[in-house]
Amino acid sequence: MLKQGKILYGGLAALDRELRKEAWSGAHYTIVVDENTFQQCLPLLISSVEALQEADFVEVPAGEECKTLEVAAQVWQTLLEGGADRSEVLVALGGGAVCDLVGYVAASYKRGIRHVLVPTTLLAMTDAAIGGKTAIDLGGVKNSIGHFYPAQLTIIEPDFLDTLPPTELGCGLMEMVKTAAVTDPVLYQRLLAIPAGQPAAKQDIVAAGRIKSRVVKADPYDHGIRKILNFGHTFGHAIEVYRQLPHGLAVGIGMKAAMYLSVRKLGLEEEVYKSYSQWLTSQFAALHIPLAAFTLKDIEQMLPLMHQDKKCAEGELHCVLLQEIGAPVIDVTISDNEVRDTLLAQKNIC
Ligand SMILES: NC(=O)c1ccc[n+]([C@@H]2O[C@H](COP(=O)([O-])OP(=O)(O)OC[C@H]3O[C@@H](n4cnc5c(N)ncnc54)[C@H](O)[C@@H]3O)[C@@H](O)[C@H]2O)c1
Ligand SMILES: [Zn+2]
Repeated sequence: MLKQGKILYGGLAALDRELRKEAWSGAHYTIVVDENTFQQCLPLLISSVEALQEADFVEVPAGEECKTLEVAAQVWQTLLEGGADRSEVLVALGGGAVCDLVGYVAASYKRGIRHVLVPTTLLAMTDAAIGGKTAIDLGGVKNSIGHFYPAQLTIIEPDFLDTLPPTELGCGLMEMVKTAAVTDPVLYQRLLAIPAGQPAAKQDIVAAGRIKSRVVKADPYDHGIRKILNFGHTFGHAIEVYRQLPHGLAVGIGMKAAMYLSVRKLGLEEEVYKSYSQWLTSQFAALHIPLAAFTLKDIEQMLPLMHQDKKCAEGELHCVLLQEIGAPVIDVTISDNEVRDTLLAQKNIC
């Protein structure tokens, strides 16, 4: 059974207390930052956590560009040159990209060293830094190489969100709404009530993180119930690639498409679809992202992208749909014609 590490919701003060414990004595720390978190987050981390004041640090490119074998090899090389042994602890200070890279690097260095995740984006705090999946990309295929290798510690410090750009906050909020839509109607309603452009409250960040932990604990290797977290992603991945939209925003549109289908196939109340659509429109308006409908020509180009998706088994498209908020059904088969009908109906969006 894969053992998930500790998640500390008490922020950097909790990390400071934790690293003073016996279990961490003798550890040497290397902090992995990207160019943004080096400037915006590293000073706060180092000034708040005594054990990290003597840490080394390595800077990697920001965003998806750090999830490559070349960057992983650079970090391994730096560790080797610095004489790092198995007492080395890697600390990821960044979004999901840095967290994925650091987990991957830690899993292979000297057959596995400890790592601590300090997520600095909303998406990473509530999703990417929880659950033990690590990954890099290869040959343009996202997350194609990786391990299940949970961090010893994950620290949730919402103060880092103060410098996060609005689009990144929007992406994180969409994934939180996704988590709530498949598990928790009360949290879902609370998230939809946040005025567009406002950050999520700390209690909601904690709630979304706890749900993700619970789902992961029930299905650490992603064979069953964890698939509910793919809600919105069958359409979302194709929209992300085709419209070149940030992942979280594309998933927001993908959820709208999945709700439209849920009304038709599983009897989801029309009103749920309508109120979600209004909320989504207001979120995109606040981010000043223009929306446009899909034409049949767009859809014919998106269908192959959907068929390439990992959730597509034996040529059939599979999708997570909702009977109601909090009641998902996984592996619902959908036909190409249902995809066409759904995307054509998404007027005024994307
Ligand atoms: N392992 C998992 O279970 C899992 C789950 C979901 C997503 N992911 C992965 O997570 C990645 C996306 O993560 P993300 O959305 O956090 O994006 P990201 O890591 O690419 O970060 C987005 C941008 O925000 C900047 N940034 C980070 N923190 C900041 C801060 N506090 N202030 C200012 N700028 C800051 C980064 O430098 C970057 O430019 C993808 O690679 C995805 O595959 C992994
Ligand atoms: Zn996602």
